[in-house]
Amino acid sequence: MTAVANRIPRELRSPRVRGAGFDVEKVRHDFPILREKVRGRTLVYLDNAATSQKPQVVIDAISRHYERGNANIHRGVHFLSEHATEEHEAARGTVQSFLNAEEASEIIFVRGATEAINLVAQTYGRTQVGPGDEVLITAMEHHSNIVPWQILCEQKGGRLRVVPINESGELLLEEFQKLLNTRTKIVAVTQVSNALGTINPVRRIIEMAHRENIPVLVDGAQAVPHLKVDVQALDCDFYVFSGHKLYGPTGIGVLYGKSALLDAMPPYQGGGDMISSVTFEKTIYNKLPYKFEAGTPHVAGAIGLGAAIDYVNGLGMDNVAAYEHEVLTYATEAVAAIPGIRLIGTAREKAGVLSFLLGSIHPHDIGTILDQEGIAIRAGHHCAQPIMQRFGIAATARASFGLYNTKEEVDALVEGIQKVREVFA
Ligand code: ALA
Repeated sequence: MTAVANRIPRELRSPRVRGAGFDVEKVRHDFPILREKVRGRTLVYLDNAATSQKPQVVIDAISRHYERGNANIHRGVHFLSEHATEEHEAARGTVQSFLNAEEASEIIFVRGATEAINLVAQTYGRTQVGPGDEVLITAMEHHSNIVPWQILCEQKGGRLRVVPINESGELLLEEFQKLLNTRTKIVAVTQVSNALGTINPVRRIIEMAHRENIPVLVDGAQAVPHLKVDVQALDCDFYVFSGHKLYGPTGIGVLYGKSALLDAMPPYQGGGDMISSVTFEKTIYNKLPYKFEAGTPHVAGAIGLGAAIDYVNGLGMDNVAAYEHEVLTYATEAVAAIPGIRLIGTAREKAGVLSFLLGSIHPHDIGTILDQEGIAIRAGHHCAQPIMQRFGIAATARASFGLYNTKEEVDALVEGIQKVREVFA
């Protein structure tokens, strides 16, 4: 334990939080990879914002599908096809409940949050945005919530506008209000910033946009692993997330859209399953959600995502949020106390992410030295170059937390950062 960590009161240093219904040691047993050694050290995995690790139940659900239930869906009359279809559609129902969507048909399976945003930009956006129209995003968006809108604006002669943030990494809502106007066709905002950890007041943002009759897309990729989400309570028009950050598989994600909007949108991709009839003269498209699911979907992925959601529901998202808040608070205090540290992203409301600089040491060097200690963090611009530019930096070192991380691991991170300081002393 370092001198820095020792300055933290003992009661805060206690690594085990066994609060109502949440036992982190028990949770850790569910994740086989956490027992792996990395470079001869116990793995300390703090790169959850990039992707999270998978519990055994998710791995088993995917294996079981391929071992015993694999078939194409919506097509066969045979037993396995019917069974796989049922499992796939059950997963859709699981996502519906998880987001509290009104209808299962409002849940579109996609490859991930990136594909979901591209889908909305190229369907809703392509039909709604014309020359001189505006798409409003924020300064803290991931490239996946910038570039699809830029492409759309280039195609349609539209204009991308950006809500600025303050030094803490919080949105300036008065500026947001000023940017809303009759030319604004859609607002696209992240609920939690992957680079800063800021939790944006999306409910308020949606209310403000709706007052001007502007729909809102919420990028929930970094929110769903940390917070309970209710799309009806938020009243968002679109909500997107990726399975792999929510303890599910890669290659599967979700677009939620209000059915009236989805119904009115043209299809994104053409192919099998998204049609109800095809002639060379004309194609009639399928009903929701299939209209947006061309081709054989990632059946195992959807089943794995369903298992991941069952898993986090079993823990209780409120328990997860409370536990993670405690770990993040502990980490923030411990890391901030290290001489030479500059935190990037100090919003009052944060989840999951601790971005920092250490003197003039390059974040890649920090990441490399920590890696020698078995500690995995991300170093770089985090696919959010404009937010780096906003802070006048090229990159940060980023520790990002999941539901299995402990205060002991935070202590290991602090010790690792002290080693970085020694190396560069
Ligand atoms: N968007 C992912 C991250 O923040 C990859 O690391």
